[in-house]
Amino acid sequence: MDGNGRWAKKRFMPRVVGHKAGMDALIRVVDHCQKRGVEYLTVYAFSSENWKRPEDEVSGLMNLVLVGVAKYLGKLASQGVRVRIVGDRSAVSEKVRAAWNQSEADTAANTGLVLTVCFNYGGRWDIVQAARRAMAEGLSPEQLTEEALSARMSLAYAPDPDLFIRTGGELRVSNYLLWQIAYAEFHFSDCLWPDFDEREVDRALAAYAGRDRRFGGVKTTGSASSIA
Ligand code: IPE
Ligand code: MG
Repeated sequence: MDGNGRWAKKRFMPRVVGHKAGMDALIRVVDHCQKRGVEYLTVYAFSSENWKRPEDEVSGLMNLVLVGVAKYLGKLASQGVRVRIVGDRSAVSEKVRAAWNQSEADTAANTGLVLTVCFNYGGRWDIVQAARRAMAEGLSPEQLTEEALSARMSLAYAPDPDLFIRTGGELRVSNYLLWQIAYAEFHFSDCLWPDFDEREVDRALAAYAGRDRRFGGVKTTGSASSIA
């Protein structure tokens, strides 16, 4: 969800105001994806590398987790959204960890759209933690297949994304879902994340619908049910 800082700068406001607007945009996008029949929506909220940002921005983002959970968890829970958090939770504060744990617990029985928030996440971190788990379980080199590693990735419960969206005009993957995007269709948008609205979601879905997916073979497929 890229472009929050620039969105705020354009308005002569502090970056954290952009992040707050970005959180409101996320809620809008969740609603619309649900309306469009998307089953899995995975968003990149805080990367392993984002700790390098100025201290006040990092603490602003952490505080936003608490504010966002207090403000929106009830709404998401009542509309059937299941929230899951993926990333290294050991490095975040007790308060943030508690907010994430509560988000998962309060929505654990929901069967609607699965919203995964990647937080203190990195694609390489995920591959390493999966490999470590396999080693700890004593898998032999022969047993370490693609399936065995997939089953130990932090997103093992979700299908690989059909559609990968990057906002904010950057044309990079930035250590997001490296393992899972093997066959994802990419959609790059210049739209700054806080401005990403229903129309932009529909634009991305339309772009996806126009693609011819062959997965290395010759077949084509239907609509996007997993978006990252
Ligand atoms: C949001 O956008 C990404 C987060 C880490 C929350 P940015 O903060 O990267 O915004 P820009 O790229 O400076 O505009
Ligand atoms: Mg950015």
